[in-house]
Amino acid sequence: MPSEFVRGLQCRLCGKEYPLEALNFCTEDFGPLEVEYNYDAIGKALSRAKIETRPPTMWRYHELLPLDGEPTVGAQVGFTPLVRANRLAEALGVEKLWIKNDAVNFPTLSFKDRVVAVALSKARELGFKTVGCASTGNLANSVAANAAAAGLESYILIPADLERSKIVGTNIYGAKVIGVNGTYDQVNRLCTQIAFKYGWGFVNINLRPFYAEGSKTFGYEIAEQLGWRIPQHVVCPMAGGSLIGKIHKAFGELAKLGLVKDSPCKMYGAQATGCNPITDAVKNNREQHKPIRKPNTIAKSLAIGDPADGFFAAKLMRETGGWGEDVSDAEIIEAMILLGRTEGIFAETAGGVTVAVARKLLEQGRIPRDEEIVLCITGNGLKTQDAVAEALERPVVIEPNLAAFELLVEGAAAREPALV
Ligand SMILES: Cc1ncc(COP(=O)(O)O)c(C=O)c1O
Ligand SMILES: [Zn+2]
Repeated sequence: MPSEFVRGLQCRLCGKEYPLEALNFCTEDFGPLEVEYNYDAIGKALSRAKIETRPPTMWRYHELLPLDGEPTVGAQVGFTPLVRANRLAEALGVEKLWIKNDAVNFPTLSFKDRVVAVALSKARELGFKTVGCASTGNLANSVAANAAAAGLESYILIPADLERSKIVGTNIYGAKVIGVNGTYDQVNRLCTQIAFKYGWGFVNINLRPFYAEGSKTFGYEIAEQLGWRIPQHVVCPMAGGSLIGKIHKAFGELAKLGLVKDSPCKMYGAQATGCNPITDAVKNNREQHKPIRKPNTIAKSLAIGDPADGFFAAKLMRETGGWGEDVSDAEIIEAMILLGRTEGIFAETAGGVTVAVARKLLEQGRIPRDEEIVLCITGNGLKTQDAVAEALERPVVIEPNLAAFELLVEGAAAREPALV
């Protein structure tokens, strides 16, 4: 039984309608398909009070997600902390700063568990037994873990040079992990052929319209956790360019349903300079991005040279009055350390990108220092330890006695002036 809240799929370019099937592009113009909802019915079913009584997971907004029945994958995903980040605010010279922290999202420590929970629940409704993805790492972890827990077979294709912990953190779940000698875009093309030939459900390919909707919950939670308000500025990392658009869509939906007051939010996209197709398009006032053939950055999770939603992400930044900016690997590392030392949050390289870009945009005067800013932290630093390991001081090693400790602490302090 299809849900009364979901109408079907619709092409984002020409508006042609399609049934709720595993299809991600319009047969007329190859435009991406998006889920279309019946907001009148949702509006009658949902209220703030109703949502607030539900368990603290992403499914408290289930009327706004494209499933026919109850979710069967990822029942506990979401409702991660929105942290008031006063110490980072002071370091950046701003007044009102929050971090939405999906570094601690369950079960695989990135926001990808949100998209996978929807995609795999939908895959089961559509009858798929084998699922898969093309991934820059976090999606690999999440599809493998959630497929294992759901008893689905999974094929995960990744660029062969991914971080070791992202590979181990996929293999552990018994997925079939295939490293491909090539870039993410080449992996993605191959997966499109595999999905078509074998009839499998690839979460970010033929299941993409459903998958993408999961990211909206990141936005619903920000608004609810702010006390049912839309923030003025959101800085979001971009790879395929999907998450940033879905956060904004989430705010718009809440406003349309009367759950928050409609107020503008400027969206800022963050990338690494070594793979910056979307921010490059924004900064150079181009509608279409130029694909980056060989990404080269430590932010491997964001290294998509030809982003599927690049056009829409760039348009969104322009239309909301936000901006796009990118940062070097050195700036990413510095920002990861700054976030750790001010807020006690260990984010992955993508988090370093977000914090460093926020700092840059503040310095450029593009984000005002006295308004409300939310930074999107989307992945965990334990997965990309090599990126910062060399930049951190090694621990001092002492003999196991108090004298050695005293010498270290007091001796060093006493000697300090002499050392300068
Ligand atoms: C940690 C992290 N943050 C952000 C993103 C960007 O998401 P999107 O592809 O929706 O732009 C990714 C994508 O892989 C990611 O792994
Ligand atoms: Zn179309």
